[in-house]
Amino acid sequence: MGYPHPPHPKETVVLSKYFGDAEARTFDGWVKRGGYEALKKALGMTPDAIIEELKASGLRGRGGAGFPTGLKWSFMPKNDGKPHYLVCNADESEPGTFKDREIMRWTPHQLIEGCAIGAYAIGAETCYIYIRGEFTEPWKVMTAAVAEAYAKGALGGNVFGSGKRIDIVLHRGAGAYICGEETAMMNSIEGKRGNPRIKPPFPAQAGLFGMPTTINNVETLSSTSHILTRGAAWYKGLCLSNPKSTGTKLFSVCGHVMRPGNYELTMGFPMKDLIHDLAGGMRPGRRLKAVIPGGSSVPIMTAAEAEAALCDYEGIVEKGSMLGSAGFIVMDDSTDMVYEIWRLAKFYAHESCAQCTQCREGTAWTTKILERILRGQGKKEDLDLLLDLSDQMTGRTICVLSDSCAAPIVSGIKKFPEEFEAYLSRAKAPALAAV
Ligand SMILES: Cc1cc2nc3c(=O)[nH]c(=O)nc-3n(C[C@H](O)[C@H](O)[C@H](O)COP(=O)(O)O)c2cc1C
Repeated sequence: MGYPHPPHPKETVVLSKYFGDAEARTFDGWVKRGGYEALKKALGMTPDAIIEELKASGLRGRGGAGFPTGLKWSFMPKNDGKPHYLVCNADESEPGTFKDREIMRWTPHQLIEGCAIGAYAIGAETCYIYIRGEFTEPWKVMTAAVAEAYAKGALGGNVFGSGKRIDIVLHRGAGAYICGEETAMMNSIEGKRGNPRIKPPFPAQAGLFGMPTTINNVETLSSTSHILTRGAAWYKGLCLSNPKSTGTKLFSVCGHVMRPGNYELTMGFPMKDLIHDLAGGMRPGRRLKAVIPGGSSVPIMTAAEAEAALCDYEGIVEKGSMLGSAGFIVMDDSTDMVYEIWRLAKFYAHESCAQCTQCREGTAWTTKILERILRGQGKKEDLDLLLDLSDQMTGRTICVLSDSCAAPIVSGIKKFPEEFEAYLSRAKAPALAAV
């Protein structure tokens, strides 16, 4: 099975260079392409030197929050005599996001190498890779690659003759969005219900099995080998706009574009070019209406905001949203925003773990109110009610699932009020049947 598209000339392919190249999936194929040199180099460095290199590169977490990776690794205690753990977050359940599965499908050794480097740098002998339950092919590819890495001495009790032990345990999830939240993930690995934990204690203090733990996204860990082989200065130099956003990033583009897919871009690339050039623009006769750039968990951008934004952490905040997981959900002028926001709210209501009242009740009630509006039974006070509920759902819960549900609702009402008004005034026919 080939990869959907060859690289576009405006892409900077680092992580995705071998997507579609079946030989790169094997250990020997990966080594032939320069693989595992970074791990060998890392094993000859001190953990502190690796962490300093990552700090200097400016790499930030690709799972959504954008936390600096080197800094996160430096929070792990030193010489505490306890087992440490690395957890690789391969749950990727964020709507509109489909990059981590491609890294695993095509370049499993890129991830294994990154995990081994990360484990060594934080003083861990064991790394758990938590793979989303639905990822059948990535799971099979990763299982074969891990077995091969053990057989070739890249994992196990004496990694490449260094005397260091690094084990990787593949853990398959069961298809719960909340298990992508790092503390819920640790509970799930421990065999418990995947409910987020209250912080503090932070994972670096007491994480998996109560031990110091670091959690990183697939793309974050996969970036580390390139930083070690090509140097922090090279990575830092991959920057088109703000020096706080460096490197390349996989942008998943889906929705009403002609060429949906993953595009690997240097940070700071113009969003307009990504949507209208690389992803092929809108379908014939259609205009861009809105973009949700961070998966679905961030504010909606209008077409004008999106077309003026630069694709990095700061550039998207400047235009009223957040980079998040960089899964771009693109909507053209055929989109019913109220309907789409309802569908998202329904998703969050279904995926809430229901521990926190504001989330359990808030996601359910916002869904019901939006449904009422779509049935043509909305009341004029419904918009205020939605905004009030969203306010109660923001910044008040153990994790940010509830905030994530509120973000598209609040931004949708603010940026597309006329679409809500059309249902409320009965000017528009109901989209859902009355009950
Ligand atoms: C509800 C929820 C779902 C999440 N899902 C994912 C996910 O699927 N993949 C991921 O990498 N991070 C996810 N995160 C973010 C993780 O909690 C965590 O911040 C991330 O894995 C850290 O890795 P990084 O520093 O490399 O970005 C989620 C967060 C929340 C609140």
